[in-house]
Amino acid sequence: MKYPSQSVALPYFIGALTIFSLQLVFGLIGATMYVAPNLIPPELLPFSVVRMIHTNALIVWLLLGFFGATYFLLPEETERDIWSPMLAKVQFWLFFVAAAVAVVGYLFGNYDGRSYLEQPIYIKVGIVVVALMFLLNISMTALAGRRTVITGILLMGLWGVAIFFLFAFYVPANVVIDKMFWWWVVHLWVEGVWELVMAAILAFLLIKLTGVDREVVEKWLYVIIGTALFSGILGTGHHYYWIGAPAYWQWIGTIFSAVEPLPFFAMVLFAFAMVWKGRRDHPNHAALLWSLGCAVTAFFGAGVLGFLHTLAPVNYYTHGTQVTAAHGHLAFYGAYAMVNLAIITYAMPPLLGRAPYNQTLNVLSFWTMTTGVGVMSAALTFAGVLQTHLERVMGQDYMDVQQQLGLFYTIRLYGGVMTAAGLVMFLIAMLVPGRRTVPVAVALAPAE
Ligand code: HEM
Ligand code: HEM
Ligand SMILES: [Fe+2]
Repeated sequence: MKYPSQSVALPYFIGALTIFSLQLVFGLIGATMYVAPNLIPPELLPFSVVRMIHTNALIVWLLLGFFGATYFLLPEETERDIWSPMLAKVQFWLFFVAAAVAVVGYLFGNYDGRSYLEQPIYIKVGIVVVALMFLLNISMTALAGRRTVITGILLMGLWGVAIFFLFAFYVPANVVIDKMFWWWVVHLWVEGVWELVMAAILAFLLIKLTGVDREVVEKWLYVIIGTALFSGILGTGHHYYWIGAPAYWQWIGTIFSAVEPLPFFAMVLFAFAMVWKGRRDHPNHAALLWSLGCAVTAFFGAGVLGFLHTLAPVNYYTHGTQVTAAHGHLAFYGAYAMVNLAIITYAMPPLLGRAPYNQTLNVLSFWTMTTGVGVMSAALTFAGVLQTHLERVMGQDYMDVQQQLGLFYTIRLYGGVMTAAGLVMFLIAMLVPGRRTVPVAVALAPAE
């Protein structure tokens, strides 16, 4: 580690892995409820609360990971320490405690009804305070240091994340308008500004791991963010088809969102091109595997499964079926879980002052977790296609159809167990000291 202040990333990464574990526990409970609906009495723990904790935990750990990644890479990019490491530590605890209070609140029925934005108002205000502390800290760091394209895009993405979150406070009485702005947070995050964050983190990792020239990486970054913003902003229209918005959104949403796979495809080309061009054989092979896997899986989850149901005439049938859940899982995992696991794999050894240890277990966790999520998404895709046909084409009753999908929900549960097993391996590979396979001096040598 070149800069002492990079160490503030450590609690963020450990916090992220903790909440990722919580997310999977609630995912497994939810999947079990699908298979055995009477196992847990709904008065005790309703499915809706389980689902809410699962999805909220997802967002919280991904954000923790992004914060940690930023604190880790910013000093190396700007060539100076974090403006205030103290503020970064306070920010971590404030966010972590707010998340814990929110989860406990959910268990006791204290939530607002809008998916992903269920946090009560005081938690939302807490999140804004956290965001301001973070933006102040990283902007002061960036302004005083070396300017790079990676820093610029990362900061643009993170400012965007905070600005769009402000729409969580706008709750118009009109349900159509309410939905329109709800998507400004949910869609413009994952299909807009988060893509910038993802591209910046991947670019940082690829420079470190392959040794390619910054100039080459920067050209790719412009293509990726150009196509992401061009397609993603008006692509929001694919959520306006059936909410009561004007019909022209069916054209706008269809045309622009059909282009949305492009930035994800560009990221695949980018990642592999950098590896082919690269001269460096960095000892952390697992981090490179996660980086390449991230680009590929994100393309399948977001690009392919997203495109599958994004055209208005298709979405007319598939809207809100298990096809959506299949896509949601593979896209979130491939793009944002994996980019976090990649930077954690890269950063954890220097943060803990160790060599890139337990490579084999980490690589095994990559394949187990990715296959697990792949199995879940495949099962849900089959369930979704069948559901679409029986319910939307044949006109069968919703519950009658659900009864016929039991096999797929059982397979999804097995895929979930596999995913969780992969996470356990990852935690051991990261946190339990292992045999040294590479001399520390080599592993910790400054990469640039
Ligand atoms: C990494 C990026 C992406 C993530 C994390 C993601 C995640 C999600 C999630 C969680 C939902 C469900 C939202 C809800 O109804 O509560 C959703 C819906 C949707 N996504 Fe994505 N998505 C991504 C990229 C894409 C792309 C690139 C496309 C199009 C090519 C796309 C097309 C859609 C469509 C059409 C829906 C609505 C499904 C419906 O009508 O039920 N997504 N996405
Ligand atoms: C142990 C593994 C997992 C299991 C068993 C699991 C199970 C579930 C279940 C049962 C639901 C509720 C579906 C419904 O309402 O019908 C759900 C929703 C969701 N899960 Fe998971 N999950 C797991 C892992 C993950 C991972 C790794 C991610 C992303 C990185 C993820 C992202 C989501 C999202 C975005 C939703 C909302 C989907 C939508 O709105 O369509 N889950 N999950
Ligand atoms: Fe979207």
